[in-house]
Amino acid sequence: MVADMSRWHTHTPVLAEPTAELLITDPEGIYVDATLGGAGHTLEILSRVGEHAHIYGIDQDRQALNAAVERVGDENRFTPVEGNFGYLSTLLPPEVKGHISGILLDLGVSTHQIRDPERGFSFQAEGPLDMRMSDLTGLSAWKVVNEYTYEKLRDIIFHYGEERNSRRIASAIIERRPLETTADLRSAVEEVVRGPHAVKSLARVFQAIRIEVNRELEMLRSALDESLALLRPGGRIAAISYHSLEDRIVKTFFRSGNHEGRVEKDFYGNDLVAIEPVNRQVIRPDAEEVAENPASRSAKLRVAQKKQKSEETS
Ligand SMILES: C[S@@+](CC[C@H](N)C(=O)[O-])C[C@H]1O[C@@H](n2cnc3c(N)ncnc32)[C@H](O)[C@@H]1O
Repeated sequence: MVADMSRWHTHTPVLAEPTAELLITDPEGIYVDATLGGAGHTLEILSRVGEHAHIYGIDQDRQALNAAVERVGDENRFTPVEGNFGYLSTLLPPEVKGHISGILLDLGVSTHQIRDPERGFSFQAEGPLDMRMSDLTGLSAWKVVNEYTYEKLRDIIFHYGEERNSRRIASAIIERRPLETTADLRSAVEEVVRGPHAVKSLARVFQAIRIEVNRELEMLRSALDESLALLRPGGRIAAISYHSLEDRIVKTFFRSGNHEGRVEKDFYGNDLVAIEPVNRQVIRPDAEEVAENPASRSAKLRVAQKKQKSEETS
């Protein structure tokens, strides 16, 4: 991976103001930006908190992390951490457990990752079939495309891409094996879906394979579970999602504290859910933000709060 740091410095954070406003409940608290990226949200949070506050900035992409460190500059309220947010508690010092005021998850890939053809995330430029957000990920898009069975490929495209032509696309991919580049994958999809619908199908198929390569939904579920133990009572999680699969996971967890949507009750019928949504209505970027930053158009922000102990049985 060739690093061109300057490109990362122009990143515009999505929904930065409402996110920081809803996430910060203690100006001297401990915060975790679990998706540091270009550090846009971290800088927004740092600009609003006091001198004793601290932010741990996590990213599994070393390029992103290095660029963020450069962008944040000399700042003793900031600690960068390389790692996967699915293992959140192992990435943070044990003494912060139960004392964190806010955790941010701005999900998915960054525009910088998408724009770099060498990373293989985009169907708009030719590059290797990679799509790994981290060098440590064993799976690559090449392996998914060239080694998965028809059934597995079809199911991934159907479930993670929500693409209704999943069967025909999986067959077209298998017929063309071996596929080497993003352009080869694009041609396989375009063989099935032609005309104006092709772009949407391409986006869905590329999204599906990216989710599989990075185990994105599994890591999101795990990060949400771990967040609950890390937050102090009254601490908050803000999650910005970019597609319905992520948003569904976040919404269910924020309402029930688990991934099944089961609302636990005690013997007397009191609600035992450890978390509650802060905003009932999802927050979306306004027309001005979308015009300035088209990458924000599908963003949905949800924020939830860990209940105080006494509220859990109220
Ligand atoms: C949408 S970008 C974040 C942009 C950032 N909020 C900003 O304002 O600059 C998402 C970032 O999260 C990282 N990421 C995605 N999944 C991750 C995971 N499971 N663990 C750690 N980092 C992850 C990506 O590498 C990417 O840099």
